Amino acid sequence: MITKINHIAIVVNDLDASLEAYHTMLGLPIGERKVMPEQEVEIAFLPAGDSLIELITPTTAESGVAKYLAKRGEGMHHICLEVEDVDAALAEMKARGAQLINDSPIQAAEGRAFFLHPKGTQGVLIELLQADK
Ligand code: CO
Repeated sequence: MITKINHIAIVVNDLDASLEAYHTMLGLPIGERKVMPEQEVEIAFLPAGDSLIELITPTTAESGVAKYLAKRGEGMHHICLEVEDVDAALAEMKARGAQLINDSPIQAAEGRAFFLHPKGTQGVLIELLQADK
């Protein structure tokens, strides 16, 4: 059902400075950049082979990511696993008793997705994503 790691997301204070640091130090190419008004975040991608590093910064002081940043500081936010069919994955994980954050898939930057609660996954927030083609 899970086909690969689509991206690893890192919450940052300053998107420009972080993008420059990851580009310069790690030599990763700079990819797409997107403002997501619904999630109140701006995202920048750095392709790493077949996967992506995703840098996220809040665009408002009230967003979930802003609160996360204020409470925990910069660092890893979630791991995203790609699935072929997000609806099937959601139904299957519900049936297996997974602790879900979303009851139905949401529109993420790269496709439709839902999140598993870190309580059930050893403290790691996991996103399951059906990527847009
Ligand atoms: Co993500």
